[in-house]
Amino acid sequence: MIYLDNAATTCPKPPEVVSAVAAAMATFGNSGRGAHAKALTAARTIYETRVAVAKLFGCPRPDHVAFTPNSTMALNIAISGLLRPGDHVISTDLEHNSVLRPLYRLQAEGVAADMLPADHRGQIDLGDLERLLRPETRAVVCTHASNVTGDLVDIRRVGSFCRAHGLLFVLDASQTAGTFPIQMEQDQVDVVCFTGHKSLLGPQGTGGLCIREGIEIRPLAVGGTGVQSFSERQPAAYPTRLEAGTLNSHGLAGLHAALAFLDRVGTQTIRAHETALARRFYEAVRQLPGVTIYGDFSTEVRAPIVTLNIREEDPAVVADALSERFGIAVRPGAHCAPRLHRCLGTQERGAVRFSWSWANTEMETDAAAEAVRILTEEGC
Ligand code: ALA
Repeated sequence: MIYLDNAATTCPKPPEVVSAVAAAMATFGNSGRGAHAKALTAARTIYETRVAVAKLFGCPRPDHVAFTPNSTMALNIAISGLLRPGDHVISTDLEHNSVLRPLYRLQAEGVAADMLPADHRGQIDLGDLERLLRPETRAVVCTHASNVTGDLVDIRRVGSFCRAHGLLFVLDASQTAGTFPIQMEQDQVDVVCFTGHKSLLGPQGTGGLCIREGIEIRPLAVGGTGVQSFSERQPAAYPTRLEAGTLNSHGLAGLHAALAFLDRVGTQTIRAHETALARRFYEAVRQLPGVTIYGDFSTEVRAPIVTLNIREEDPAVVADALSERFGIAVRPGAHCAPRLHRCLGTQERGAVRFSWSWANTEMETDAAAEAVRILTEEGC
């Protein structure tokens, strides 16, 4: 199979990630729930993973990295834990449901939300932020890259807007963490929400938040922490504050190995490889008759995603044809990003998304482009 569904989850993972998970499953106790060797082995690996994540995002406080099962949970914690009734928040039409649904739920509870509008090409204008600002605006929550088009948001510009107006900046780094630079200090990001299983190349079931010192997030879940057991309250200190229950230490061991892999190979090298393949595919298919591509390809710097439609074909039928006739895995549909699909005019049928990662090759990319060419000629 040619796997081009890496924006959904990267596959394969580097071999050292696979072996780290297997080794952890054979050796780890429960971190923070004992002082014996197996519990300490798990605790050490988790701590080293916090250190590596903090380093990746330029955060000086590893204890401000809290782990969650995925970025949806991280975003729920950040959004629900920072906003209160009466607050106003600005987000964008590019967002995934992991941002939109927590915001919609808060709207029903008295939080006001405005979305920076995207145009029919899926482009937002950050100049609109000023227009949406209100005295009660408390935060901007936005994605670093659209999971539909791969278009990047200029986070440094959003960060300076937030800093200039005393707003919190919560970043959804689901599509970029690990391959695109995010520096919390320079980019003025207050909370980075990330998943481990996409461009960080780690296992599913890992993710988290990296929190700037001084940002107080109310916990969403409270419970066992292994410390302060006689207190009726969740411990106040990060990361325990946001980590009720046993952590996925086996998955985090894999994430630890993935971060070491990224460090060894180089995030820039991986990004250049993926970007070149996505561009190669784009150049090969963009002029095929009947192909419509979504997003802005005038800039080289974009997530390795190409999303398209072929004439009036149903994207699910195109994806099935790619899978069954050519052995190519892609993701059709709405990609959990309903507002952006409405802007693009694809709300009725969605689109077909191709996405690359470190293990893809030019040969695979050319085969995918050729498959699209055949489908444009023969239909599905
Ligand atoms: N959010 C993931 C995607 O874009 C699952 O496919």
